[in-house]
Amino acid sequence: MRVYRLPTAGGIDSLTMVDEDMPRPGRGQVLVRMQAASLNFRDLLVVKGQYGRSPARPNLIPLSDGAGEVVEVGAEVSRVKLGDRVAGIFMQEWIGGPMTPEVQPSALGGGARDGVLAEYVLLDQHGVVPIPAHLSYAEAACLPCAAVTAWNALFSYRPLVAGDTVLVLGTGGVSVFALQFARMAGCRVITTSSSDDKLERARSLGASDGVNYRTRPEWQQAVQDLTEGRGVDHVVEVGGAGTLSRSLQSARLGGAIHLIGVLTGVADVNPMAILQRNLTVRGVFVGSRHMFEDMNRALAFHQLRPVIDRVFPFDHAKAALRHLESQTHVGKVVIAIGAA
Ligand SMILES: NC(=O)c1ccc[n+]([C@@H]2O[C@H](COP(=O)([O-])OP(=O)(O)OC[C@H]3O[C@@H](n4cnc5c(N)ncnc54)[C@H](OP(=O)(O)O)[C@@H]3O)[C@@H](O)[C@H]2O)c1
Repeated sequence: MRVYRLPTAGGIDSLTMVDEDMPRPGRGQVLVRMQAASLNFRDLLVVKGQYGRSPARPNLIPLSDGAGEVVEVGAEVSRVKLGDRVAGIFMQEWIGGPMTPEVQPSALGGGARDGVLAEYVLLDQHGVVPIPAHLSYAEAACLPCAAVTAWNALFSYRPLVAGDTVLVLGTGGVSVFALQFARMAGCRVITTSSSDDKLERARSLGASDGVNYRTRPEWQQAVQDLTEGRGVDHVVEVGGAGTLSRSLQSARLGGAIHLIGVLTGVADVNPMAILQRNLTVRGVFVGSRHMFEDMNRALAFHQLRPVIDRVFPFDHAKAALRHLESQTHVGKVVIAIGAA
């Protein structure tokens, strides 16, 4: 089978395609013929050796998010059967309940565990979920990290209420899912972006308002104006250092900030802005299998489809990563491995 490995995390060019024997499932494992994988900002950090406290182990298979068909099952597998269409879960051992230190190292394609950029991938039977019937493999491959993160932010701790206003930053993978989920829940969405064209696209997906943070650097003021001085109920904060203090100023008194990303680096936070505005600031780290399953029921009922910017062939995985790096995309970038 063909598989991409990272001999060292030396940038996109260090990604190397190799031919290897097909793995065989052991007890409790399933062999998935990957049909598609999707990219997350994290994957760029992994290939550049900038993810986590220590670089990825040598020869890691990168990427956390993929979907495919179960083609072989090991002994004592009862949850999954041959022919099932499945996606892997991000942290293979986070099934439900609160996150614990033990489940963190089980994330795919980041530190210790190989990821999904391969024609065949072995996963534990408990580390997969059935994918909604209305989705293609390419669409389902977008779900495990970006969609589950947006779902966890908006529905698991302080769930959206119809009529809430949600601010999403930029038009990348997590933010576009957050936009779609907030609209699904009957909420108003304000989007920021670097580009007026992307804001137009966000409007076509249901955002009521858009603010270009390049032409309007004081975008928190625009958000306050759009909400008649009240501020938004929820901020899906993916920016980090460059956006956090403006996000805090965009929220209403008692609003919620869902801390997800560090696109612009790590921030020092001024606690005054949080306490004076009575804000709830909550860190979000993807989500559990149970959250993924809850989300899939909502996707199926609402027939909601992930927004795919572009699909690259397996041979062009490096070009796919460069496209993500260019930040010209809206939504998700996908790599077709089989018949995506
Ligand atoms: N905590 C978690 O569990 C978790 C899970 C997933 C992702 N993340 C993190 O969340 C962040 C987003 O991930 P992703 O995979 O969705 O990224 P992505 O698809 O690569 O999105 C990148 C987009 O973010 C926007 N952006 C860049 N700088 C910005 C800024 N200063 N202000 C507002 N928007 C900005 C740009 O869109 P525009 O051109 O439209 O502005 C850019 O195209 C990353 O930091 C990632 O590591 C965390």
